[in-house]
Amino acid sequence: MFLDNLSGLFSNDIAIDLGTANTLVYRKGVGIVIDEPSVVAISTDNKKIIAIGEDAKEMLGKNPEEVRIIKPLKDGVIADFRVTELMLRNLILRAQKKRLLIKPRVLVCVPSGITEVEKRAVRDSALHAGSREVYLVSEPIAAAIGADLPIHRPQGNLIMDIGGGTTEIAIISLSHIVVHCSIRVGGDKMDEAIVSYLRKRNNISVGIQTAEKIKMAIGSAFPLEKELKMEVRGRDIITGYPITVEVTSEEVRDSLSETVTSIIDAVKGLFEKTAPELAADIAERGLILTGGGAQLKGLDKKIQETVDLPVHVVPEPLICVLKGCGQILDNLNDYKEVLLKKIED
Ligand SMILES: Nc1ncnc2c1ncn2[C@@H]1O[C@H](COP(=O)(O)OP(=O)(O)O)[C@@H](O)[C@H]1O
Ligand SMILES: [Mg+2]
Repeated sequence: MFLDNLSGLFSNDIAIDLGTANTLVYRKGVGIVIDEPSVVAISTDNKKIIAIGEDAKEMLGKNPEEVRIIKPLKDGVIADFRVTELMLRNLILRAQKKRLLIKPRVLVCVPSGITEVEKRAVRDSALHAGSREVYLVSEPIAAAIGADLPIHRPQGNLIMDIGGGTTEIAIISLSHIVVHCSIRVGGDKMDEAIVSYLRKRNNISVGIQTAEKIKMAIGSAFPLEKELKMEVRGRDIITGYPITVEVTSEEVRDSLSETVTSIIDAVKGLFEKTAPELAADIAERGLILTGGGAQLKGLDKKIQETVDLPVHVVPEPLICVLKGCGQILDNLNDYKEVLLKKIED
């Protein structure tokens, strides 16, 4: 007990939300120490890292052949093991300002559909990077804890996390996932939809980064009280010259409708697999939305209207999962049962 407290005092323990779009790191007793896009720039010559995070994301679409920009967790799974390991190693080292005698324990939040091979890769990377022990937790569980849902109780909690590459929906009761569904649709698909819509309808070619900015500024899933518009710069696909066009929120909503429908269909699909008692709990408590995609304007209203459930967006959707991870790390004893089973070698 005393030793536990002592190691807590000098602890370097960290929790990592390894997201497809953003990676966040929490250090025990300090708070969020890293919050960066999950993007790595690598030299094609010597395979060394040139930049990680925001700096690497800024290079997207502007990189010469000598630099490859990699999103190692592209579709919610680890698309590139080696780069994921490099990134994890870099983050773990950066998160511990001072090297202490006691190596850190590291908690990593992983997508619920992760395979055994991927779990092992995450664990091994964290161990190589100098952690003493590695714990894994499933993303919907961390999101639910971050959202302050009473997951320990025998009662259905429905949570949906809309990230960059994936949307995860789960019903949690008695600290475990009872049913879950994960689709490879999220913020990235929305950005791609905007790119192809503008190409077809407005004859303008824009990059994925611009599309993301449009989505955040004027994107929506439900009619807005006051519709919005913005000027967008891109390349005229006929003349090839740079042009500026005005894009309206109605057009952007139209471009996003297919993605929004896929997300709503996933909620409906989950209900079909849910036992009646749990469904009754959920009808009362509703759906809790987390993840950056939950910030799409009017998404809560659109789901509420289509599925006929109360829908609530958590106060800080982008950091909810990390908050949950931090809570687990701070109270490991109370949360033992939510950790994924140790992986066999
Ligand atoms: N205001 C916003 N409106 C719509 N989408 C947003 C907004 N803010 C962030 N996003 C999207 O949220 C996604 C990132 O969410 P995040 O939870 O960090 O994903 P992940 O967990 O996969 O890393 C990105 O696709 C981003 O474009
Ligand atoms: Mg996430």
